[in-house]
Amino acid sequence: MAIRNIREYGDEILTKKSKTIEEIDEKIQILIDDMIETLHKYNGYGLAAPQIGILKRLVVIDLYDGHDVLVLINPVIIKTKGEQTVEEGCLSFPNQFAKVKRPMEVTVEALDRNGNKIKVIGKELLAQALSHEIDHLNGELFIDKIIPGTLEIVKPDENN
Ligand code: NI
Repeated sequence: MAIRNIREYGDEILTKKSKTIEEIDEKIQILIDDMIETLHKYNGYGLAAPQIGILKRLVVIDLYDGHDVLVLINPVIIKTKGEQTVEEGCLSFPNQFAKVKRPMEVTVEALDRNGNKIKVIGKELLAQALSHEIDHLNGELFIDKIIPGTLEIVKPDENN
């Protein structure tokens, strides 16, 4: 496993559309493990492959709620319900936070890392994370949907 470099805002790759994964091979398994390690290293809630420079439809989500890490290959949002206004950040925008609108509930179909079809119904924070990470696969960034006047730049913790 390895920590991968996170691409930051201004990097063109973040605005590109990712490609469908056709075969879940050894390379993809390594990529998944590296993405999980990178997510944990930076204490994020989620990471999408384009954020480490790989234009493939793959996201990992860990809300640190004691459940396993959610690995989603070729995720598709099939249904959304409601709306929530939430504070949001992104590992590609260090120290920046803003309010955005996200669905209150999101239903996603995807493959897990073994190639099994799965359906995930996420509410609140999980709905936000699913929506945010799947946006990355379409080259969409939270900065483009922030509610005007809510962007905050937080000074990095000097002990880190
Ligand atoms: Ni992000």
